[in-house]
Amino acid sequence: MSGAEAGPEWVWVDKAALIAREAGARLREFFAQGVEMEYKGDVDLVTVADRTSEKLIRERLAEAFPEHGIYGEEGTRERLEGEFRWYVDPLDGTTNFAHGFPQFCVSLGLEQRLAGLATGEDGTMVAAVIYDPLRDELFCAERGRGAWLNGRPMLVSRTADLAEALIATGFPSHKRHDNPNIHFYQEFTLRSHGVRRAGSAALDLAYVAAGRLDAFWEFKLNPWDTAAGILLVEEAGGQVSGFSGKDFRLDSREVLATNGLLHAELMGLFADMFAGRNLAPILTPREFAEQRKARAAG
Ligand code: IPD
Ligand code: CA
Ligand code: CA
Repeated sequence: MSGAEAGPEWVWVDKAALIAREAGARLREFFAQGVEMEYKGDVDLVTVADRTSEKLIRERLAEAFPEHGIYGEEGTRERLEGEFRWYVDPLDGTTNFAHGFPQFCVSLGLEQRLAGLATGEDGTMVAAVIYDPLRDELFCAERGRGAWLNGRPMLVSRTADLAEALIATGFPSHKRHDNPNIHFYQEFTLRSHGVRRAGSAALDLAYVAAGRLDAFWEFKLNPWDTAAGILLVEEAGGQVSGFSGKDFRLDSREVLATNGLLHAELMGLFADMFAGRNLAPILTPREFAEQRKARAAG
């Protein structure tokens, strides 16, 4: 396998980028022809494209890096005892994909797990590739070598106030009633230029790294959603943590990724909201209906 991704002298990214591009090309074909959706859960969708992409990535990664482990969303669990482990989301944004909404990607993140690490402990993310096949955008990073988009270095934005920020989030597809995110969505919408819910967490993180978004948060993501994106954000100069500032962990089920300048403000808002403080009042539908009725009555 050959093919060099523009940027610095890469250790893993060249081969991983080729694999992500090949998987992305398959997704593009499936997207053009349309696919049936199946349900893994409540509103958790899967398609033949997710499975085909994961199979291809699994085979190519095993050829390119025979010693490396693979942990994929669609069930791949291989060689997980080794020093290196790829977290694979073969199609991030399946709901978009299945509806013909053009926002999805392939995400590959490489973790280095030095000897002695306990099963539940995180190693260090050392390489990341996220590929958006419809825009032909390849976001990549290796630890210490910066973050790159199609061969150009990426930097996070310089927005210093939430009031001037464009931010993003997502909502889980399991146990939707157990999740409070709609309250955060409302509060952050009232306090910023807007909150996007574009449906691909990996691309959301890549966009924070590229300075297109100033921050992103989400509850209940899985390691394959975040592994690559968090390294992109860090290498682009941003900051990643849990909602209260604790170190981010792949299985911590909460991620706050910002350009760094907004981190303290957003964490303060999380703290306030979790404590029930400082919430902006908003009209209920019933209050709105009453006002509308009163207006109509003259
Ligand atoms: C989903 C997307 C979405 C996020 C969901 C994820 P999938 O991943 O990243 O943006 O809100 O929580 O599950 O299922 O399309 O790979
Ligand atoms: Ca995903
Ligand atoms: Ca997926």
